[in-house]
Amino acid sequence: EMDKFVSEMMSKMTIQEKIGQLNLVTPGGGILTGSVVSTDVEAKIKNGQVGGIFGVYGPEKTLQAQKLAVEESRLGIPMLFGSDVIHGYKTTFPLPIGLSCSWDMELIKETARVAAREATADGIFWNFSPMADIARDPRWGRIAEGAGEDPYLGSMVAQAMVKGYQQDDLSRNNTMMSTVKHMALYGASEAGRDYNTVDMSHLRMFNDYLPPYKAAVDAGAGCVMSSFNDVDGVPASGNRWLLTDLLRTRWGFDGFVVSDYTSVNEMIAHGMGDLQQVSALALKAGLDMDMVGEGFLTTLEKSLNEGKINQEDIDLACRRVLEAKYKLGLFEDPYRYFDASRPEKDILIDEHRSLARETAARSMVLLKNENQLLPLKKSGTIALVGPLADSRNNMLGTWAPTGDHNLAVTVLEGFKNVAGNTANIQYAKGANICDDPEMAKKVNVFGPKIEIDKRSPEAMLKEALAVAGKADVIVAVVGEASEMTGESATRSDISLPMSQKKLVRELAKTGKPLVIVNMSGRPMTIGEEVNHADALLQMWHAGVEAGNALADVLFGDYNPSGKLTATFPQNVGQIPIYYSIRNTGRPQEGSNFEKFKSNYLDVTNSPLFPFGYGLSYTSFQYANISTDKNEMAQDGTIHVSVEVTNTGNFDGEEVVQLYIRDMVASVTPPLRLLKGFKKIFLKKGETTTVEFAITANDLAFYHPDLSFYAEPGDFTVFVGGDSNASLSKVFTLK
Ligand code: IFM
Repeated sequence: EMDKFVSEMMSKMTIQEKIGQLNLVTPGGGILTGSVVSTDVEAKIKNGQVGGIFGVYGPEKTLQAQKLAVEESRLGIPMLFGSDVIHGYKTTFPLPIGLSCSWDMELIKETARVAAREATADGIFWNFSPMADIARDPRWGRIAEGAGEDPYLGSMVAQAMVKGYQQDDLSRNNTMMSTVKHMALYGASEAGRDYNTVDMSHLRMFNDYLPPYKAAVDAGAGCVMSSFNDVDGVPASGNRWLLTDLLRTRWGFDGFVVSDYTSVNEMIAHGMGDLQQVSALALKAGLDMDMVGEGFLTTLEKSLNEGKINQEDIDLACRRVLEAKYKLGLFEDPYRYFDASRPEKDILIDEHRSLARETAARSMVLLKNENQLLPLKKSGTIALVGPLADSRNNMLGTWAPTGDHNLAVTVLEGFKNVAGNTANIQYAKGANICDDPEMAKKVNVFGPKIEIDKRSPEAMLKEALAVAGKADVIVAVVGEASEMTGESATRSDISLPMSQKKLVRELAKTGKPLVIVNMSGRPMTIGEEVNHADALLQMWHAGVEAGNALADVLFGDYNPSGKLTATFPQNVGQIPIYYSIRNTGRPQEGSNFEKFKSNYLDVTNSPLFPFGYGLSYTSFQYANISTDKNEMAQDGTIHVSVEVTNTGNFDGEEVVQLYIRDMVASVTPPLRLLKGFKKIFLKKGETTTVEFAITANDLAFYHPDLSFYAEPGDFTVFVGGDSNASLSKVFTLK
């Protein structure tokens, strides 16, 4: 049916009209992330020179634009309307890295469903999400947009998001087409510098970095976005091995590939030739749609006439774009997403805001809680201090172009909402987010701004100390402004800016109980602050309900259950840092320095906080790990079980994690790899048995010839509450 329809349509199309379908434009709309912006958009639509558009929102505007395509272009082919909706549409959820710390796939899927409902109500039905890039370098600002460092967890999250957006049914008018990005390896940019070179062995690619993209493709993602970086020396957007041999032939992807913002043109700077050459290279590589750069629009016909590309190359790309439109039901009704009555019914409704509040609370990770300082009582005097304690601009986090900062709940508001009737809450800003005007200027180029208080640092500090002096407990909300992470927001120093460091030092000197809340889009080197704090909570940028959710957690209405999905380093020199390391021939045993071992002179090898780590107000004890057999066949299953008891004073949730180590293999095996997890709820005093099933697939890995299988031998399975889990059991694969 679809084939027939598309073939008929294509038989009517001129070569220019086919090339037009491969052109993606943006008139701006708040998501300009390059130096180029599309011009003469209206005329191009009427000329059949636009296949898709992004940065246009609302049923009226999208309808108006679609009408130009449908009613005024020769063939009336409807356009795709896209956007970045990476952590909610108007109802902004926590940053993806925060969301991943919930380890709750149903919840993540639900946030994606809600995002799709809201976006489609506003005329957007093609999403540039999920970002499935594995990131092990927190200097890279876009670590905020992904699910952290681990391929197993990353795959589950990517899959949950695709399913949430698409609901396995693109023909509905409240689901949206998902784009997995950035294919590929973008998270491994050298030195964490954005857009930088990537050079990686195929073993590492296949075992560690590619699984989440593949999981998203397997989950049915309709679109793939190519990345800015090169892969094996060829930029991803012109890399045929990547976009065709791997993506289509090996993985069976049958959707279309869109470039990143001007990434086709950027191959000129990479050194791959002029605009005509790089555009032909991209098309031949298997890239179907050119975002904003218009290299396709302006050079492909010439390349065809000169025999540099074939008619079939253009036909194939055009067919893929038309197929996506067909699957979305646009040929049946090009206006199906443009219903003026929908925004009010579907966007920012109470139900969505409550989900945002719940999700935000479940994303936060408790990293320290000495003497059970938390949860706080809803009484007494609380000093709420810090540049992020009342900063509406910085609640949503990076890359929320469709969100509205004015609707966000600040921490101060959240505290008042949750405890304001019974506790005396005193606020002081205490310091600016940063005291480096150059940094502020750079951050303020894009998105929400850092507001710099004109008062002197001394005056601000004095006020904060006065407030703190009268309080029973101090809560300091510090960290990064929204745009200190995200695209083109690499930092070489990921500690707190000095203005905030000084504030924390002075607050600590008061000797009062000190709770530090770190609001950021990346793991940070906050060892000094951890030492100063009695309790420390990693909040991330938590979205439109951030302030309420934080208050829910700090005052104990929600017992935190988040677990880190990216390692927190002690210092930048330890980066890249991740839990699934391999042994060297000279591994360090213990944490003391040993000469001629693999360690540092100035820091231990341990992270500040490991992957999978996160505390609760209660405590959990693990005991009695067992397997149902000692040996398993290649086609068999082994069941691992463990008893988990809530030994503390609160009901609570725990993410029970299972790691596996291959004891001997033909390729140096990682010391442990996450291969299962379950999030459970236990009442205080309650014990439960948690079971996992392991098959040979969980033990398999890619070999140098890229075959994927498990090697017979011994495996150790570890179960516990983080990646240092110590309960273990050995079994043998036959
Ligand atoms: O989707 C994004 C991508 O992640 C980075 N460059 C711009 C694109 C469109 O906004």
